[in-house]
Amino acid sequence: MLKKKGIFICIEGLDGAGKTTQTKLLIQQLKKSYDVLYTSEPSKGLIGSFIREKYLYGENRLSPFVEALLFAADRIEHVQTEILPALKEGKIVVCDRYIYSSLAYQGAGEVDLQWIQNINKSILYPDLAIYLDIDPVKVLQRLNSKRSIMENLETQKKVRNLYLRFVRSEKLILVNADKSKNKVAKDLFIVVQKFLKGFSR
Ligand code: TMP
Repeated sequence: MLKKKGIFICIEGLDGAGKTTQTKLLIQQLKKSYDVLYTSEPSKGLIGSFIREKYLYGENRLSPFVEALLFAADRIEHVQTEILPALKEGKIVVCDRYIYSSLAYQGAGEVDLQWIQNINKSILYPDLAIYLDIDPVKVLQRLNSKRSIMENLETQKKVRNLYLRFVRSEKLILVNADKSKNKVAKDLFIVVQKFLKGFSR
């Protein structure tokens, strides 16, 4: 059985890596046995809605420093209003993107990683963080026209290198996303199940 306190899982990856599809498939599986909350960043809160609706698909890019501040502000609100309350109720919270997106994407914009961590100091760190890995060239082929301002090949390569750095330092667990949808879903579920087993001991 799970301990009373909930469990916080985040899923990271480049856009087009199948992250949202895989997160939803994972939720379907988990819901068979647990009380689960699906959430994502940018969040549905005031700042997250601003980022998604007014910024990400617009014409101009702000400085990556300002972006990092916006995403951190959204995250702080997200934790306070959605993530923490669900964890207090003992739920498993699965978040599509979290702090590692700021470290990888804004880090790719030359923002100091330590500074990003500092402005995110008050957030909760996930119990399990998974990175769905795929080659950026394949990712951009999948994305077609719906690209955010972050999605050019050069940026995506830098983002991936940063994600892989966190895999090497064991902050993120890598799942190969360059396989069929069902195979990736299976691999992802195995990682989560293994973690949950260890957690409940
Ligand atoms: P999504 O469509 O996967 O939700 O991605 C939203 C975009 O926001 C994606 O290009 C990555 C970017 N992003 C950051 O740059 N930093 C962050 O902290 C977060 C959460 C997202």
